[in-house]
Amino acid sequence: MSRLSGKVAIITGAAQGMGAAHAKLFVEQGAKVILTDLNEEKGHAFATELGENAIFVKQNVTSEEDWATVIATAEEKFGPVNVLVNNAGITMAKNMLDMTLEEYRRIVDINQVSVFLGMKAVAASMMKAGSGSIVNISSMNGLVAGAVGYTDTKFAVRGMTKAAAINLAPMGIRVNSVHPGVIATPMVVQEDTKAAVEEFSKHIPLKRVAQPEEVSNMVLFLASDESSYSTGSEFIIDGGLTAQ
Ligand SMILES: NC(=O)c1ccc[n+]([C@@H]2O[C@H](COP(=O)([O-])OP(=O)(O)OC[C@H]3O[C@@H](n4cnc5c(N)ncnc54)[C@H](O)[C@@H]3O)[C@@H](O)[C@H]2O)c1
Repeated sequence: MSRLSGKVAIITGAAQGMGAAHAKLFVEQGAKVILTDLNEEKGHAFATELGENAIFVKQNVTSEEDWATVIATAEEKFGPVNVLVNNAGITMAKNMLDMTLEEYRRIVDINQVSVFLGMKAVAASMMKAGSGSIVNISSMNGLVAGAVGYTDTKFAVRGMTKAAAINLAPMGIRVNSVHPGVIATPMVVQEDTKAAVEEFSKHIPLKRVAQPEEVSNMVLFLASDESSYSTGSEFIIDGGLTAQ
């Protein structure tokens, strides 16, 4: 049986990388999926590839107005929303001493404020649906330090997941965070970073980076009713990196 049949799901940052992998698996598992991203061309093309149970809506996740449009479009096209995956994010590999206030505010807006906006915007629709599951994509840097700004926002996503889980539990809405380690997506693996990623893999207990689809399996579990008693929790998928 399809594990997401009857579910309407929104996935942000779904034009490429992990968001795209989640969208593909969700459609395969019977969900109707709204893919959103800033990258309209890639997002549209990918949603078309996924077929009639997928649509693309252009969205900047930092815009409250865009969130209202995404929820309204989802309801109009497929009905009340059951699942939100807050996946869109950026990275910024900078030392704190070199980071400007403008850069800092940008990463906070995209990685952190967006998650607040998404959870707030989707709650009413999930109440109409009768229940819901929100999956917030943090990082292993929501548990241990990495780059400044990125680490700050990913710790915040972990914290706001717990606070929101308490607020939304009475409405039957669950909220959990996912903490990936190093995943082979365009964010991490580029021509000029390939060698460094390979070198870093030696320090991962499983001795390799993960494919996006491996994270999708965990996100699918959290989106589905199989995780019915999990809320306010963190789910780590890092090949053992943070266990050492
Ligand atoms: N790749 C990794 O190793 C890794 C590890 C831990 C956590 N993560 C997190 O997983 C999530 C997905 O990462 P990925 O590796 O697939 O990245 P990616 O760069 O491949 O994809 C991110 C997508 O988000 C979109 N996006 C960026 N800013 C946006 C905005 N303001 N509004 C809407 N869309 C926007 C981009 O256009 C892109 O399509 C991110 O939150 C990232 O921080 C990634």
